[in-house]
Amino acid sequence: MPVNIAIFASGNGSNAENILKHFEGKGDVAKIRVVMCNNAKAYVLERAAKYGVPTVVFSKKEMEESEKVEETLEGYGIDFIVLSGFMLKIPEKMVRKYPNRIVNIHPALLPKYGGKGMYGDHVHEAVLAAGEKESGITIHYANEQYDSGDILFQATCPVEKEDTVETLAQRVHQLEYAHFPSVIEETVKKL
Ligand code: GAR
Repeated sequence: MPVNIAIFASGNGSNAENILKHFEGKGDVAKIRVVMCNNAKAYVLERAAKYGVPTVVFSKKEMEESEKVEETLEGYGIDFIVLSGFMLKIPEKMVRKYPNRIVNIHPALLPKYGGKGMYGDHVHEAVLAAGEKESGITIHYANEQYDSGDILFQATCPVEKEDTVETLAQRVHQLEYAHFPSVIEETVKKL
């Protein structure tokens, strides 16, 4: 039986699309059943539509105070959750319901440059401001604190002297595209 995956994303969704593409021909291993999004204007919704994957939009309040998200996940028989550019904290009730079944990608080498407010370009700004020589990606299990669950995988890339937020973000994104789908695949194969 394939593992049923839900992708949670908040914005552009380039990683989400890369994951959708990766699993397109792997229906025996896993299927992306739904893309969950907390922003009705996010481009990820168009990307999901291109792959014929249903989308569900919800608010922070709905996620925290109602059963909408959990009921949707149950409706699609979701076994595994991928946070792919998802900018909200996962409520404790969901972490408890999906123990070791929620993974997140972070665009830096945790435990550095994680925590509240550290998302997207803010992370790259902080890495550049600190004069780091190296950055990278971290794929980790999600818990109810930001960026602090057990680490599954890290990969590094150099930070160049002339880097801007844009050039560093691009380099980090390339690492994400290269590794996130296969780390997800290896992880769900062990379920
Ligand atoms: C990615 O770089 C991801 O690592 C980061 O947001 C970007 C989303 O890009 N996630 C976080 O910062 C989570 N704290 P995308 O929407 O094009 O995939």
